[in-house]
Amino acid sequence: MENREHIPTHVAIIMDGNGRWAKNLGKERYEGHIEGVDSVRECIKAARRQSVRYLTLYAFSTENWGRPIEEVNALMELFCKSVIAETDELVKQGVKVVMIGRRDRFSERVCAHLEQIESKTAQGDKLTLVLAFDYSSRDEITTAVKAIADKVLSGELKSEEICENTISQHLYTASIPDPDFIIRTSGECRLSNFLLWQASYAEMYFPQVMWPDFKQDEFDKALEVYAMRERRYGKL
Ligand code: FPP
Repeated sequence: MENREHIPTHVAIIMDGNGRWAKNLGKERYEGHIEGVDSVRECIKAARRQSVRYLTLYAFSTENWGRPIEEVNALMELFCKSVIAETDELVKQGVKVVMIGRRDRFSERVCAHLEQIESKTAQGDKLTLVLAFDYSSRDEITTAVKAIADKVLSGELKSEEICENTISQHLYTASIPDPDFIIRTSGECRLSNFLLWQASYAEMYFPQVMWPDFKQDEFDKALEVYAMRERRYGKL
């Protein structure tokens, strides 16, 4: 895979199957999430090694607040612990972390950790790790439409000037290229409110493997699948 054309610039992953992985092994769901953090670590290394420039991970959806409070708290705690444990290594690897999603529903402690990881890794220039946290696409698009409507109302923007780029520039992902390749683990074949606007021309891949088993070898296998795809963008 030495041809750069066959390496996706941006890989986005829906990390699914933590709970089922744990259940299959007679463990608690939480243990699936813990092993899932190891897969995050492995995929970052693989992405770096393969010269992928952007890796987006769907870490917590706006719908995930509907899970039992114990699981929501456990995920928040795991996130804070991971920030503390991993930040130095991310800085060493040249990884810049960017968060996308709402910021108004987290505790002060979680917000402080989000801000800390973004500021400490801001100089990273090898890989941008985009963490979708309290994210959903419909929420993102609704927020963008409101911001655009406000600009039209204030006269900053004329409605006839609105084009696709106007929408893109008002999304959380304004500074990030669209994903080339979207992976969802655990065999589920749907996008579940993830990057719906940005996914217009993305290739998709739905391996059966559960997220805690998606390590570097699975990431490499996925990129081999991508390299075989022919992308035509609606042309011949
Ligand atoms: C989906 O599996 C997974 C999640 C909702 C959480 C993913 C979070 C992690 C892997 C931890 C990420 C941490 C960092 C630091 C980014 P599921 O619980 O829906 O599994 P199931 O479908 O089998 O129930």
